[in-house]
Amino acid sequence: MASWDPQQYERFAEERARPFRELVARIPTTSAVAVVDLGCGPGTMTATLAERWPDAAVLGLDSSPAMIEAAARLATPQLRFQLADAGAWRPQRGSVDVIVANASLQWVPDHETLLPRWAAALDDGGTLAFQVPVSTSDRSRPPADGVSTPRPVSAEMFAEVAAAGPWAATLAGATDATGPRSASPVLPATEYVRLLSAAGLTVDAWETTYYHVLPGDDPVYEWFKGTGLRPYLDALAGADLEAFTSRMRQYLRQRYPREPFGTVLPFPRLFVVAHRA
Ligand SMILES: C[S@@+](CC[C@H](N)C(=O)[O-])C[C@H]1O[C@@H](n2cnc3c(N)ncnc32)[C@H](O)[C@@H]1O
Repeated sequence: MASWDPQQYERFAEERARPFRELVARIPTTSAVAVVDLGCGPGTMTATLAERWPDAAVLGLDSSPAMIEAAARLATPQLRFQLADAGAWRPQRGSVDVIVANASLQWVPDHETLLPRWAAALDDGGTLAFQVPVSTSDRSRPPADGVSTPRPVSAEMFAEVAAAGPWAATLAGATDATGPRSASPVLPATEYVRLLSAAGLTVDAWETTYYHVLPGDDPVYEWFKGTGLRPYLDALAGADLEAFTSRMRQYLRQRYPREPFGTVLPFPRLFVVAHRA
C-alpha cells in the first residue's frame, strides 16, 4: 500500500480543495444525521462537511495512519476520524445520509460491488458523491503499455517511465493492485450512471478539466509526489530511487514545460452525485 505524506499533499491545498467544494455544492441533501467521508486525507475538507451539516455526526475514514494522525487534530465531538479501508466499510442499509469520496476511489478496487452497497446504505433523501481522475475512457484506444483497462493519463506517464530503466524489474514486481500503478478501478462515466441508476438513485455526472498554473521548479513532479507517484517512490530505494526521481522530473519538465507565468497542469476529473429521492 502506498504511504501518504499529509504535508506534501497539502502543498497544493487550494487546487485540491476546489473539486471537493464543487462536488459538495451539488449535493441536494439538506439535513443529515450521519455523514461519512471515505479517504478523508488530512481531514481539512471533512471539517467543511461538519459546517455544511451542523446537526450530523461526521466520520472521516482513511487507510493511511499518517493521514488519520493529521486529521485527528481537527476532531471535535461532532467530527471523528478512523483508520479504515474504504473497501471494507460495510454500512447498514439506510443508515447514512451523505457519503463523500473525493479523489480517493481511484485507490479502491471493485466499484461495481462497492457502489451498490453504498447506495443501499443511503437513507431517503441521502446522497453519494465522489470525484475521481478521468480515465482514458475511450476503450477503443490502444493502451500505451499493453494494459487493457483504461487508466488516468498520469498513470500512463508513470508506467512509461517505470518500464524504461534499471528500476523496471523492481517496479514490475511491486504492482499495487489498489493504486494507479496498475489498471485503474475508475470506470467511464456512463458505467457509473448505469450502476447507480440501477441501484435506484438519480444520477448527476459530469467531467471538468482544471488547468492549474503551478509555481516553482518541477511543480508537476511535486504535485504527483504527494499522490499518484507514491507507489513508485515507496517501491524504490537508494540509487534506483535517485535515478527514477531524476528521470521522472526530466520527463515531467518536458511534458509540462515551465512558462514565464508558471507550469500548466491539465487536471481532468469526473464527478458523480447520486441521490436517493
Ligand atoms: C488524494 S487523497 C484525497 C484526500 C481527501 N479526500 C481530499 O479531498 O483532500 C486520497 C486519500 O485516499 C486515501 N486512501 C487510499 N486508499 C484508501 C482506502 N482503500 N481506504 C481508505 N482511504 C484510502 C489515502 O490515504 C489518501 O488520504
